[in-house]
Amino acid sequence: MAGTLGLSCTSGIFVVALLQLYVSLVSGQKPEIVNNIYPDVQRVGGTARLNCTVARLGQNSVQWSFKGKQGDEVISINERIQVINIRKGSIPNYEVIRKTDSSADRTTFMLVINRLLPDFTGEYVCTIMVTNDQFTMWTSKSAFLQVQYAPVIHPGSTDTVKQIHRGHNASITCDAMGVPTPNITWVRSDGKLLPNGNAIYRGRTLPIKVADVKFSGVYRCVADNQIKPPAESLTQVYVYQAPVVRVVQDSVGQYANGMLDAKLDCIVQGYPQPTVYWGYYKGDTFVKALDQDKYETTKQATDYQNLYNGEQWYTLLIRFVQAGDFRDYLCVAENSEGRGQRKVTLFSTYDCQGPLCYSIDPENRGGGALPRLSPVLLALWLLTTLCLS
Ligand SMILES: *[C@@H]1O[C@H](CO)[C@@H](O)[C@H](O)[C@H]1NC(C)=O
Ligand SMILES: *[C@@H]1O[C@H](CO)[C@@H](O)[C@H](O)[C@H]1NC(C)=O
Ligand SMILES: *[C@@H]1O[C@H](CO)[C@@H](O)[C@H](O)[C@H]1NC(C)=O
Repeated sequence: MAGTLGLSCTSGIFVVALLQLYVSLVSGQKPEIVNNIYPDVQRVGGTARLNCTVARLGQNSVQWSFKGKQGDEVISINERIQVINIRKGSIPNYEVIRKTDSSADRTTFMLVINRLLPDFTGEYVCTIMVTNDQFTMWTSKSAFLQVQYAPVIHPGSTDTVKQIHRGHNASITCDAMGVPTPNITWVRSDGKLLPNGNAIYRGRTLPIKVADVKFSGVYRCVADNQIKPPAESLTQVYVYQAPVVRVVQDSVGQYANGMLDAKLDCIVQGYPQPTVYWGYYKGDTFVKALDQDKYETTKQATDYQNLYNGEQWYTLLIRFVQAGDFRDYLCVAENSEGRGQRKVTLFSTYDCQGPLCYSIDPENRGGGALPRLSPVLLALWLLTTLCLS
């Protein structure tokens, strides 16, 4: 029993040794990929060239494949392209160029990929398909292709609007994809200094410490990785602020003939957008200028005149100015953060103001200050004068 076991053991070892000898002998003649395949780095639109050099190719074939997300995709077998090859003119996306060095028994299969897209980034595998060997026995080597591309702003992680309470600390973020990883810089669109006092900030996240009204405005981030074009994105920053009111002129004159209008202007800044109204004090009572026959309040477009960020221009039109209209008017602005107001005085003048002055005879201005009378009134006046004399 022991003898039989000893014999089979010895013969088993012998068989294994024979097999090893056979394998080592045969492998010496088997084709193999010479050296590692160099990785390649190319820009979008460019061309990549990956070289797979095989020694002792013989009658075997060489396959290029791509390790895709959905598994391996065979690109080529020898020079034959196996995938849909999009052509532009005479230039296809994929080509395999075969070069043979007969003296050294080496064959190079250069995989050429034209008009690169970011998706072409990945691992490319060169495999020797040895006839008569099972595919599990095939040897392969791979190389990484990196396609560089210009930055693209990542909308999900980039702020477009940021609302900050005055005095609070906050930050705004700009994120961009791109290869190589883009550098991100922040500036203010209007050229003002950043909250940290510098003109430019490098980094994804711009801190806004102890927020102030003057930090309100448009911030621009630029993502650059040396591949044109750089990408940019704008962030509108609003700092919550009680209204601040300023006036263009703190007094306005008009001629009191009951036919001319007067315009009072005020400029309001605040966030959230303040509610603005005009009015005046009659004794202790504040009277809002709501009478539509007498007053009209309008808000002008933001880009009208030289307005600072977030300012709104409001105008109170007082129709048919008469003696009783001369007083102080208040422009009042209110929002959730508070209230602001400024005074504009309407005073009586002999100089007509505004575009409707044609209704006053220039001859009579200043001196008699008689408005032009209607023919009926003139006739009446003539009649009265004649009758009285
Ligand atoms: C492959 O070979 C070609 C031609 O010899 C060469 O231009 C190219 O740079 C090589 N590719 C790599 C990734 O080294
Ligand atoms: C904001 O940051 C400053 C400086 O880093 C700090 O002193 C202050 O306490 C912070 N304020 C708030 C409201 O967190
Ligand atoms: C990012 O900025 C640094 C410093 O200026 C520079 O050395 C680097 O090349 C830039 N990186 C890219 C991808 O442009």
